[in-house]
Amino acid sequence: MNEPIFILRGDICYSRNLTELAVIKQGYVICKEGMSLGVYQELPEEYQDLPVRDCGDDLILPGLCDLHVHAPQYTFRGLGMDLELLDWLNEHAFPEEGKYRNLEYARKAYGSFVQNLKESATTRACIFGTIHVPATELLMDMLEASGLHTIVGKVNMDRNCPAYLTEKSADISAEDTVEWIKDCKKRCQITRPILTPRFIPSCSDALMENLKKVQMHYGLPVQSHLSENQSEVAWVQELCPQSEFYGDAYDRFGLFGADCSTVMAHCVYSDERERRRMKENGVYVAHCPESNMNLSSGIAPVRAFLNEGIPVGLGSDVAGGTSEDIFAAMAHAIQASKLRWRLVDDTLKPLTAIEAFYLGTKGGGSFFGKVGSLEEGYEFDALIVDDSAISSRDMEVKERLERLIYLSGGAKIKGKYVAGKEIFWR
Ligand code: GUN
Ligand code: FE
Repeated sequence: MNEPIFILRGDICYSRNLTELAVIKQGYVICKEGMSLGVYQELPEEYQDLPVRDCGDDLILPGLCDLHVHAPQYTFRGLGMDLELLDWLNEHAFPEEGKYRNLEYARKAYGSFVQNLKESATTRACIFGTIHVPATELLMDMLEASGLHTIVGKVNMDRNCPAYLTEKSADISAEDTVEWIKDCKKRCQITRPILTPRFIPSCSDALMENLKKVQMHYGLPVQSHLSENQSEVAWVQELCPQSEFYGDAYDRFGLFGADCSTVMAHCVYSDERERRRMKENGVYVAHCPESNMNLSSGIAPVRAFLNEGIPVGLGSDVAGGTSEDIFAAMAHAIQASKLRWRLVDDTLKPLTAIEAFYLGTKGGGSFFGKVGSLEEGYEFDALIVDDSAISSRDMEVKERLERLIYLSGGAKIKGKYVAGKEIFWR
């Protein structure tokens, strides 16, 4: 259904805020020109004559947002998980990313990534590519054709990486980035560029200075990694002895929120000082619990972020994470928070299912604008989910949602809309 204005009917559910779930059984949600006109129990008079797509007892939910995923790593998900971050990068991630110099390899690998993302529950994503401009542009062309709304980064790295994956100089890295940004403007509308210095260890000071100039000139957002692993954090302290903490190493170059919208993945070891700066600068956390378990990184203090008013969303971090399924990321976030509560800090309460659902929808969605809810004024990103194989229809909608978070593989995503456009209906 791609009419300029249409209505869906079904069991509707979305987050009002972190702790409040809105449930409208057999309700109506109206989409006009890509935006929600609101959710209603009874259809208002003025909309009575409009086409209604009746979804029966299926759930109608906001689309899910993946705040951190590596497209080139999709090929080796579920492999090589017996290492910690720095060894894993050297042994698995970097050799694989090196292959994207070859466009034919990229076409096949990115084709599979984009197809699976399209069929998943994800409607919006912040995506890392590689250092290669042609392959990143190819990825963006494919994403543009998918109808998903994504933000994609050509990765910058000019030090401490294997020669085959190191840009020749800080200036060449920045020049390639500018060329890529100009191409993006010509080629894409719903696929936007984001500056992507990989992490401090792989970016020289000269590169960071260059990227700040590019950031200011084009007004781009920034994505990177922060305080993920203890050896990484110690290495950053060695590389940048003048920085007060890891986040400060980005902030010194103006690439840590404030005047540039920023999302940082992981933040497992973000202490009070780092968190204070994140709060002051409005830096988003992409919480990636499955990756943090797989790479033995640790458990991020999500409750502290929430208590302190730091914006948080969820990331799959494929291939640190194995799956693009953000429902699974919700379950992992809850489970990780329970272990942290039990084993690390019993003053920080674990996440509830309702809170995890918020993080995977409205929490991360706000990085993209008015996204992540079905409320009036939000972009119309919606999922129609047939959960009959995992839940009985006489259960409460809230219970069905909880089941879906834990058992998403057993449910069928029947339909998906992004900004009012039908992505599929099956
Ligand atoms: N830090 C720098 N690069 C990466 C990456 O590819 N994955 C993860 N999880 N952390 C990183
Ligand atoms: Fe990552």
